[in-house]
Amino acid sequence: KLPLEGKVSWKAPSNIALVKYWGKKENQIPANPSISFTLDACTTRTTLSYSKLNRASDNFSFDLFFEGKKKEDFKPKINTFFQRIEKYIPFLKSYHFKIETSNSFPHSSGIASSASGMAALALCLMSIEKQINPQIKNTYFNQKASFLARLGSGSACRSIEGNLIQWGDYKAIPESSNLFGVKYPFEVHPNFKNFHDTILLVHKGQKTVSSTVGHELMHNHPFAQERFKQAHTNLDTLKEVISSGDLEKFIEVVESEALTLHAMMMTSLPYFLLMKPNTLEIINRIWSFRQATKTPICFTLDAGANVHILYPEKVKEKAIQFIQDELVAYCENGHYICDRIGNGAKKI
Ligand code: PMV
Repeated sequence: KLPLEGKVSWKAPSNIALVKYWGKKENQIPANPSISFTLDACTTRTTLSYSKLNRASDNFSFDLFFEGKKKEDFKPKINTFFQRIEKYIPFLKSYHFKIETSNSFPHSSGIASSASGMAALALCLMSIEKQINPQIKNTYFNQKASFLARLGSGSACRSIEGNLIQWGDYKAIPESSNLFGVKYPFEVHPNFKNFHDTILLVHKGQKTVSSTVGHELMHNHPFAQERFKQAHTNLDTLKEVISSGDLEKFIEVVESEALTLHAMMMTSLPYFLLMKPNTLEIINRIWSFRQATKTPICFTLDAGANVHILYPEKVKEKAIQFIQDELVAYCENGHYICDRIGNGAKKI
């Protein structure tokens, strides 16, 4: 029996991929497996209020409020998401929804909110499903939330749980799936617990090419097959690294992944560039600092110009000093966000 009305709220984190997902097949199936750190500070909070309609509507009925203001321009994205998940969430057309959402990070900071946003909304829908069917278990709850989030934005499926999440069929992890993210099942060396990610906001404007288009361009990409193979090899290497704590090798894999992601963009047809001059300045500074001081600090990139600086807890002071002294100057308005590896989404 469907509840008449109610309200649920979730806070879901963003995530940063170590091995990148770039290229997909139909239904948001990734062309290669990926792995990410779940973040802690960069989150989306979503409250979903629902009231039962007298009879099921023909279209999805919802209002969307972003940071307190009604937002019409986000509606098509949610509508597409609802269309994709309707078969799995049969009550979608029986309700009018009010979606109220806000981010912990500044709007248009160049940090994509699609991962945390879609994860938070998927979790809210799962909470309604759980009211209808209280028997569902936590494992199923998280798996289906991840499955739904994936249909909103691929990488969102890695934003349900912490701390390291694997998504996509990968032979070393039998429980891995193309359909949802799973918690990394192997031992994690203390070096990777409490890992830091300081996000340098190099460019806060809109990206010139969306990731949807970028994924699309991996079809018929001259280097696609090699790239997909390389992701598997890099996952094998990371698996060793994560259990041994080998930071040098970690740095090599993670930086290579970031640059390969952007190399794929530069060698697509049409080709495009998302890095900015300051992105490169920061990368060069990190390399010089690392060489001079032997501090295990490295960078990774998303599909944008911002730089994620990754480092272990044990070099935190040194790293922050370096970031403040040398890197903040390259950030737009000196803006950066201190984040770290996190435990996953929370019901609020
Ligand atoms: O989730 P999407 O479709 O926005 O793709 C994002 C892909 C990258 O962020 C560039 C890499 C990744 O694995 O998160």
